[in-house]
Amino acid sequence: MMTVHEIQNEILRMKREKDVCILAHAYQSQDVLEVADYVGDSYGLSEQAVKDERQGIIMCGVRFMAETCKILNPHKTVWLANPLAGCPMAEQLDLAALEALKKQYPGYAVVAYINTTSELKTACDVCVTSSSAVQICANLENDSILFVPDPNLGHFVARQLPHKTFAFYDGGCPRHMAATAADVNKARGAHPKALLLAHPECLPEVTSQADYVGSTTGIMAYAKKSNARQFIIATENSIVEHLSFECPDKQFYPLSVALSCMDMRVCTLMDVYHCLQGDGGEEMSLPEGIQEGAARCLRRMVELGG
Ligand code: 13P
Ligand code: SF4
Repeated sequence: MMTVHEIQNEILRMKREKDVCILAHAYQSQDVLEVADYVGDSYGLSEQAVKDERQGIIMCGVRFMAETCKILNPHKTVWLANPLAGCPMAEQLDLAALEALKKQYPGYAVVAYINTTSELKTACDVCVTSSSAVQICANLENDSILFVPDPNLGHFVARQLPHKTFAFYDGGCPRHMAATAADVNKARGAHPKALLLAHPECLPEVTSQADYVGSTTGIMAYAKKSNARQFIIATENSIVEHLSFECPDKQFYPLSVALSCMDMRVCTLMDVYHCLQGDGGEEMSLPEGIQEGAARCLRRMVELGG
């Protein structure tokens, strides 16, 4: 039997030998983060995928993140470390439903959260992530915006851009939407001195009570800088563990046990190991039409958000 440390060392050796970069979303487990070349939120991962010069990329995250890497790097080999890792929000709006929605809002710019399929991105004007959505919508020439598929992030953006008109799709992240105002009351009762840090995918009844609202890396940066010593975390519960390791002098509490994303958790250190050995993971490949249409939408994100 190999120890976790021995497996990590073998991964580090193989990735150097094979000229592969490992990108990990901040929700991944600690043993995976330790072998990654870069850890970040969706926007940071997209930027890093373009900057890195290695020929291969292993994405430890969910499918739309690996697709985004491939779209931005068509000549590189990109693997999704565990092919089971989807994102229920990305799969809830298809092209036909979007086309019907667009007919209800003629003249609106269509802004797609990056948590969408590549096919859907081909029919949108620009992509956004949780950390870039406000800036990109502010920079868009069009003042009427159809925001899909997450109305919670959409409302968070709209509240900050009151001069723009927004329309929404009735979707959202089933994991973040499981946290409620009752959870906030309970957590604040148990930890009255703690600040509440929330992801904008949470319901407005949660984000409206938060001391800070931001992306996964935004939440982590805020907690590290803050002079406060206790924090209630309203995003995937892996962030509670990561922050606890990074700031042992502070205490972090989950807002709810329901804030657990099975898709993000399905990827393991052994998936990364097998991917590098050539007997695991899924190599990303997209039809040409989809690759080009989605690339336009993602490149606009980098232009307007940079
Ligand atoms: P971030 O952009 O904050 O990484 O969010 C991605 C995501 O899937 C959150 O649930
Ligand atoms: Fe998708 Fe929600 Fe999981 Fe993020 S937390 S990957 S939005 S299901």
